[in-house]
Amino acid sequence: MPEIAPSVLSADFARLGQELEALDAAGCRLVHLDVMDGMFVPNLTFGAPVIKALRPHSSMFFDTHLMIEAPERYFEDFVKAGADGITFHREATGNPAQALEKLRGMGVLAGLSIKPGTPVEEIESLLGLCDLVLVMSVEPGFGGQAFQPQALGKLRQLADLRAQGRYDYILEVDGGINPQTIGQVVQAGADWLVMGSAFFSREDYASALAEFRALAECREEEKAPGGKAGLQ
Ligand code: DX5
Ligand code: ZN
Repeated sequence: MPEIAPSVLSADFARLGQELEALDAAGCRLVHLDVMDGMFVPNLTFGAPVIKALRPHSSMFFDTHLMIEAPERYFEDFVKAGADGITFHREATGNPAQALEKLRGMGVLAGLSIKPGTPVEEIESLLGLCDLVLVMSVEPGFGGQAFQPQALGKLRQLADLRAQGRYDYILEVDGGINPQTIGQVVQAGADWLVMGSAFFSREDYASALAEFRALAECREEEKAPGGKAGLQ
């Protein structure tokens, strides 16, 4: 079953603890935490201390998306803070294989992300080290942007490679996911759907979650083979 991962980038930052509690109460199993450094992307959000402060407020899987340069410098801090999965960008490090191995050794899900301009071929040799691959369907940095349809081809490509049996990653998509685009990304093979502005524009998180899950599930029958069941 596809999983919805609300991105707190669109939540009320003055009440983040309560926002997470509300997501938990609504039945969310994942929460997406966007870390930005003002260098890799032209925006700043929060770091490990905020994640540590949020940890007691939620039992959800902390799906941590690092949009920072040289992310390996901070892996330990994020793991100690309570991240369950850490995804960094291929474009942000000179040694992605070593970074993925480091994450796997730390007992968290090791994720690798690519920006819209980076082809799947650039990470193909790394896929055997990935627990999760995140396809960005907007330029990272800001919520509320329009979905870029070339992400669909990358999702299909990554779903096909996985279906060939050599790899075993969760396929995640991030950027511009809303009721109009959910069906397409699920059909293309996405397992985890990050939703920022479309999710938090809703007052009632439980009904939003139910509606988005239903939209995702009704397209899952047509999904590319080999999809992951969801949370491990
Ligand atoms: C953007 C972030 C996203 C963002 C998505 O760089 O990685 O997670 O919150 O927001 P929407 O769903 O509004 O495109
Ligand atoms: Zn993100």
